[in-house]
Amino acid sequence: MKKAGIIGVGEYLPKRILTNADLEKMVDTSNEWIVSRTGIKERRLAADNEATSDLAIKAAREALENAHLNPQDLDLIIVATITPDMAFPSVASIVENFLLAKKAAAFDISAACVGFVYALSIANQFIVRGTYKNALVIGAEKLSAITDWKDRNTCVLLGDGAGACVLSKVESGGIISAYLGCDGSKGELLNLPAGGSRKPASHETVDNRLHYLKMQGNELFKIAVKIMTEAARTVLRQAGLTFKDIDLIIPHQANSRIIMAVAKRLGIPEDKIYLNIEKYGNMSSASTATALVEAVKDGRVKKGDTILLDAFGAGLVWGACVIDL
Ligand code: COA
Repeated sequence: MKKAGIIGVGEYLPKRILTNADLEKMVDTSNEWIVSRTGIKERRLAADNEATSDLAIKAAREALENAHLNPQDLDLIIVATITPDMAFPSVASIVENFLLAKKAAAFDISAACVGFVYALSIANQFIVRGTYKNALVIGAEKLSAITDWKDRNTCVLLGDGAGACVLSKVESGGIISAYLGCDGSKGELLNLPAGGSRKPASHETVDNRLHYLKMQGNELFKIAVKIMTEAARTVLRQAGLTFKDIDLIIPHQANSRIIMAVAKRLGIPEDKIYLNIEKYGNMSSASTATALVEAVKDGRVKKGDTILLDAFGAGLVWGACVIDL
């Protein structure tokens, strides 16, 4: 059976750079603390008039150009995001409109930092079953809109950006295996308390800063290492491969110490792990997406290579995916 493969990639990172030195002026932190605890040196911030769809559209345009495809060729658009422009319409609908992708079905999915891996897996199903030919998968976030710039526990970690890829039925290569999971009992470790139907926006929710992301970082750290290690092992087992078959692991970029702890547990050398957290911080669904895009653009991977995406995030959710490029 023919597989769904990546035929084009694109990204967009907002121009504005927020360095650790800038953050030192905003909260009680230091460059030394941030670099040694997280690996992050700077992150990008969208402009006030830039929303998630603006980032998504720019990444999408580059991916389509790279794939030599017109928007009209698209059958499906999936945007993974936890920071949509608004509750509805979806970011995917806004992207469809701007691209004039008239033939495409379009929807968003919410799987936090694993959103891009979930979205790839969904698009894969549509293509392999023959329902659709060409799909655009985007991970896009404006996390700065839900960041509490007074909370040093979280604001130093996050950033804005978008990554996209075009999937199509391919003659060789493609998505070999995907593994997704969830443990909703740990949802309280990372959440955005207000702004939904449980706590609609009110003066009280605003006064209590409930429209900002809340995180129990230390607890998450330990779980993340365990989950990402298990997810990588499981997806490889499903694929009938071993780590020797993998040219590059592209993990979710939440914390370089999490990533290196996973690599150590798996017995993988550091040069087989892709990191761009230093430049961008954690961009949720856009992290794995842009890391994949930049690994391709940087020439770290080439046609014929096998990559493993590995992510965890709020939910808690996790997902891993093996792809032959
Ligand atoms: N600057 C300086 N000090 C800070 C700080 C900052 N930006 N943020 C927290 N601290 C302090 C804490 O207040 C704490 O001080 P205390 O000991 O006086 O209470 C101290 O640093 C250590 O905090 P701790 O939480 O133990 O640090 P840590 O080594 O676990 O690192 C994280 C904190 C958030 C970087 C780390 O836990 C992490 O990355 N967790 C996972 C987060 C994650 O993956 N989130 C996204 C999921 S997709």
